[in-house]
Amino acid sequence: MTYHNKFTNIALSFLLSSFFVGCGENRDILEATDENLSDVTTQYLTATTLPTLHRLPVLQDEDTNVSDAQETYTLSANRDVNVTIETPEGSWITPMWRYNSSTLPVVIRAKRGDVMRLNFHNKLASESTIHWHGFKIPADMDGGPDVPVAPNTSKTYTFTMQQPAAPLWFHPHPDMQTGKQVYMGLAGVYILEDAITKRLEDTKQIPSGERDTILLVQDRRFSGTKDDVRRELLYMNRAQDSDGMIGDTILVNGSVLPKQEVSNTKQRYRLYNVSNARNYDFALSDGKKFTVIGTDGGLLKNPVEVDHIVLGPAERVEIVIDFSSYSVGDKVMLLSKDMRDAMMNDDMMHGGMGRMGGMSNMFAASESSNLNIMRFDITKEESEDITLYSELPQGAEIVSRIPESSADNVGNEREFLMSMDMDSMGDMQMHFVINGKSFKADRVDEFVDAGATEIWSITNKSPMAHPFHAHAIQYQILTRNGIPASGVDLGWKDTFLVQPGETVRVIGEFDGEINRGDYMYHCHILEHEDAGMMGYFRVGNSGNLDTLFPDVVQQP
Ligand code: C2O
Ligand code: CU
Ligand code: CU
Repeated sequence: MTYHNKFTNIALSFLLSSFFVGCGENRDILEATDENLSDVTTQYLTATTLPTLHRLPVLQDEDTNVSDAQETYTLSANRDVNVTIETPEGSWITPMWRYNSSTLPVVIRAKRGDVMRLNFHNKLASESTIHWHGFKIPADMDGGPDVPVAPNTSKTYTFTMQQPAAPLWFHPHPDMQTGKQVYMGLAGVYILEDAITKRLEDTKQIPSGERDTILLVQDRRFSGTKDDVRRELLYMNRAQDSDGMIGDTILVNGSVLPKQEVSNTKQRYRLYNVSNARNYDFALSDGKKFTVIGTDGGLLKNPVEVDHIVLGPAERVEIVIDFSSYSVGDKVMLLSKDMRDAMMNDDMMHGGMGRMGGMSNMFAASESSNLNIMRFDITKEESEDITLYSELPQGAEIVSRIPESSADNVGNEREFLMSMDMDSMGDMQMHFVINGKSFKADRVDEFVDAGATEIWSITNKSPMAHPFHAHAIQYQILTRNGIPASGVDLGWKDTFLVQPGETVRVIGEFDGEINRGDYMYHCHILEHEDAGMMGYFRVGNSGNLDTLFPDVVQQP
């Protein structure tokens, strides 16, 4: 991959986009503000041809006994599934790769404490795996690149889920092919439920059932034009893509700009950014506030009211939108706001070129204008019966903050430095690296004691934001640039954006029983991960890599 060339391209497109910001006229077209919606947003607010939002299909427990503590599922990764992509301007067919040949991404709903048995069949032409993103499970079940499933072979994943209810997910994680396989359509939703959430639902403290909707947001690029009946997914076909695949078409549950008909009540959304590289800054088109009730790893102790929320790749939130102030017939759009609002630093705003040698806060040019994501149509009058919880009950793990003093590495925090490097692969090209290193399949980079509680400190000295993710654990964020976490940052996180120049400190407990073996940490921009912005960490004394590479794996 030619990072060098690509880098020049990005810097150039960035310069062009900042040039346009300076011109008053263009600015109005590019950016909708709360008072001044863009023409496009206004147009979609009144359009009559928006496709209806798909509800994602839920897999059924196959062991015939739905009430026991066992759940059995089958997932097969298939190619060449013809998927109809519906848009406000008509539809087309795109061949995708899908689990179980389902035209839509599938959902597994499971209960905390249950044992899951999942039979995976790889029907692709290349190696694949299923990685359980956000799960606290043993490394040999975690679906990392060290446990590949060869084409036309199968693997059974089995584990017990012992963690709070959360919007988790799963996706392939094969060596250097993760971005491609996810992009082609392989990703699924895993909703974990528990007694606390169930009680909150039963006592009408959070919306559930029909008023609980999964929203999977993914950007894609298609061949041809909207008039073609068949359009292929295009992946990494432009020089600047190697910085992360940014598509020009946003799919929500597989459709472009869908609408959902809702009643004038509180509605719960599990909002997933499962894009390869794109960040979103979600907001309502009228600027109304909504409430974040949960993050990657579970519900927040206290719901947090916001008027926008930034999600990097792989981040999720649960939100509640209260439509009670709307009348039947009203419509409101979900937007992703101009990312410069959320990510631009001050010197950039004031015409400087930023603190990182003129390249700070690079982002794709397409992140620099408002994006229309979907529309909510208020079509039904219904009486409200939800009074949102204000504080989670005591039994919820998130209620107690993990004290810094309880970490086993106080004063010796584990550091991860994300930077751009010329030399890490010896090819004289630019690579994003962690601690100066590119991924090596036979190297364990970090060694963690079984059962340890650790503080990890992640610093980004590169010119773009990176979503840091580690397997096996849910963290609590301690500080960002020394400032104590607050608001939405108080939730369980398995992935978090680290902005250029930022240091994020997190604390997490590795489960002494469950977490054993070799796991990954990496940037969740999938193209960065595939290009080596990733490493292994070992929990406990041994791992799968010892068997694979007996002579090479470094010991501490
Ligand atoms: Cu979604 Cu290695 O992770
Ligand atoms: Cu993961
Ligand atoms: Cu990255």
